[in-house]
Order: sequence, then structure tokens, then C-alpha cells
Amino acid sequence: MEINLDKEYYNIVKEILESDEFQKRKNYKHHNDSVYDHCIKVSYISYKISKKLGLDYQACAIAGLLHDFYKKPWQNDRTHKPLFKQHGFVHAKEASINASKYFPKYMNKKVIDCIKRHMFPLNIIPPKYIEGWIITMVDKYVSMDVFKKPANLYKYVGIKENSNLMNCVRKSYLNFILVLYAII
Ligand SMILES: [Fe+2]
Ligand SMILES: [Fe+2]
Repeated sequence: MEINLDKEYYNIVKEILESDEFQKRKNYKHHNDSVYDHCIKVSYISYKISKKLGLDYQACAIAGLLHDFYKKPWQNDRTHKPLFKQHGFVHAKEASINASKYFPKYMNKKVIDCIKRHMFPLNIIPPKYIEGWIITMVDKYVSMDVFKKPANLYKYVGIKENSNLMNCVRKSYLNFILVLYAII
């Protein structure tokens, strides 16, 4: 997905985009992309949609860009964590705290909520603002490639491949295929 950013968008996000801290995300992996590219896609598409709908497009641009602004690439973390402490469940909150640390002047209630709630429904509290719903939906859409293979679901939800849940998902998927095959 190639994106040409418009000038107004670039002026809104310029300072964040060009900062050293955000540039580091070029080296963080996100499915088949980098976190840097993924966040620009989510931010820009959300900005365009919200602008068209007459919503707060600045908030969408900023929150979209920082929605995955967690501290470190989670794939390198070898420590064993319980399921609900794994990346997919905790990174939205971590990103909101990290974004407030590095870019406090861009933060307000709406931007923080959009970042913090973007993992709904995996994180059970939904976004409070319509802009947050846009970011949440666009994030899922941009990450769709992972759904081409349901066995890769762990990549989407951000949990370790060998977790019990993923073994369960894999077995269920296999059973589902076998049942389908038997019916057909
Ligand atoms: Fe995320
Ligand atoms: Fe994301």
C-alpha cells in the first residue's frame, strides 16, 4: 500500500514524524511492515476519513501515528509472561504513556483515549470518541494481511506463537477444516 501524504497532514505530524524517537520505529517489525510504516498508514487513512466526515482530523492524525508507540520491539522479549500481560493486551496503554512522555504538547483527553482504546475488542473497554473508532477500524484494516492465514492470528493479537491459546486456536482451526472437509 503506497501512500502519498498531503501537505496539511504532513504539517500536523511533522515534528513527531521527524523526531529521533519516532524514526527508531523504522527498525521495529509490525507483521510484514515496520511500525513506522504501519503507523503512518493508520494515521493517514484515519485523517482522510475523519476530514471527509467533518470530525477532528488533527486528533486522528496524531493518535493514529502514536497508537503503537510502545517502548521496545516486543518480538525480542524472551521473558515468559502470562497471557494478559503479553504485548497485544498491554501495548495500547504503554503507547499512551510513552506518547505522553515524548510528545506531551500533542496530548489531550481525546488523543490519549484513541491510543489507549485502539485494541478494542481485545482490550475490552471501547473507544470513547468516534475518532477512536475510526483509528481502531483502520488499524484492523491495515493489519488484514495477517488474517490471510488464521494460524497467524497470534501475530495480530500480539502474543507469543507457542502460547497455550495459540495451540488451542491452531487445533480449533485444524478441526474446523476437517469438519468442513467432511461436510463437503
Ligand atoms: Fe496496536
Ligand atoms: Fe496498529
